[in-house]
Amino acid sequence: MPGFEVFGEEERRAINELFELNGGILFAHGFDAMRKGVYRVREFEAAFAARMGAPHAQAVSSCTAALRVALEALGIGPGHEVVIPCFTFVATAEAVIQTGADLVVVDVDRSLNMDPEALSAALTNRTRAVIPVHMMGAPADMDRIMAVAERHGLLVLEDAAQACGGAWRGTPLGTIGHMGAFSFDAGKVIITGEGGMVVTRDQDLFVRARAFHDHGHEYSGTVGRGEEGAIGNGFNYRMTELQGAIGLVQLGKLDMILEAQRRNKARLMGLLKGLPFEFRTILDPGELGDSLIFYLPDREAAAGFVDGLKREGLGTKNVPDAMRWHFAKHWGYMFKRYGWYRDSWREQWQRSADLLERAVALPVMVKMTDERIAEIAEKCLRIAEEI
Ligand SMILES: Cc1ncc(COP(=O)(O)O)c(C=O)c1O
Repeated sequence: MPGFEVFGEEERRAINELFELNGGILFAHGFDAMRKGVYRVREFEAAFAARMGAPHAQAVSSCTAALRVALEALGIGPGHEVVIPCFTFVATAEAVIQTGADLVVVDVDRSLNMDPEALSAALTNRTRAVIPVHMMGAPADMDRIMAVAERHGLLVLEDAAQACGGAWRGTPLGTIGHMGAFSFDAGKVIITGEGGMVVTRDQDLFVRARAFHDHGHEYSGTVGRGEEGAIGNGFNYRMTELQGAIGLVQLGKLDMILEAQRRNKARLMGLLKGLPFEFRTILDPGELGDSLIFYLPDREAAAGFVDGLKREGLGTKNVPDAMRWHFAKHWGYMFKRYGWYRDSWREQWQRSADLLERAVALPVMVKMTDERIAEIAEKCLRIAEEI
């Protein structure tokens, strides 16, 4: 998901421009008399909201912060249970922990996203929210997850950290549930170094998110920052103008990045069709196309395939190389500390483990040439013959 592949001259110009226009006011708010009308974070928020077709976007310092801020806006706290999938980046769990709510972790299906049936089976009378995560660019089954949520009155926060620009049945990911969270960290589809965004269609949720991300500020618009009141407590999860300026440029490249990735993935997929393996189930063509995942027959075969890739100078993307950060079976330290799955976490999520232990993810890049794609495919087909 390589915003970093198309990062350079335009972003540098946007930073220089900040200094040329007003001397470099890097705070998103205040300094109104000095900043000559330059508000890059606000512009980025407006442009992002427009691109997503949602009325409200709040820029924050990371997606981890976006998840935390959104959960606060949704009123999640002690006594509530929040359901997440067992395959996600650890940040999804960390944000829930920060609220004081209890974490409930459920299996993924062959799409490697939350299994809606596992969600249904995990509900209790304390379940308040669910966080579907659109992992590795591909949408979770939002029709079925939303149906479960509506039936049981659950709040839905989409973790779209890895899926900015993706869509489900034509609707942008991150705008289907009550709130959505996005990441612009250095490895994502568009990047601001570190950075994130909260998106919602609900004015009240937006006001609460905006306040919590900035020490509770009410953003009255009528008095100066120092004089205005707080609508509650908060924290500092603000984005800087540097990030806002870069974000605007990168957002302008999003559709070009998506088009290139989807084209390259389709080409690679076409050449790898002959592999005798099952491919990850992709539920909607609105995926980002930044990875191609297949399941080997067993974990030994998967390990052999990964060794073969290494010998050929090729890498994988998170699966299996960063599983410790992405699969709940590795989070015993968390379960021990908070008491969830205290004695059973080693035995949990076995169905997902069976899939993940056999999965291999090939990265798909923006700048892959046809020759490079053909070379990767040829190597993969050869490795498959050898193992
Ligand atoms: C699914 C998921 N959620 C949340 C995050 C956290 O994003 P950030 O690095 O912007 O805090 C990530 C980052 O990799 C992620 O992949």
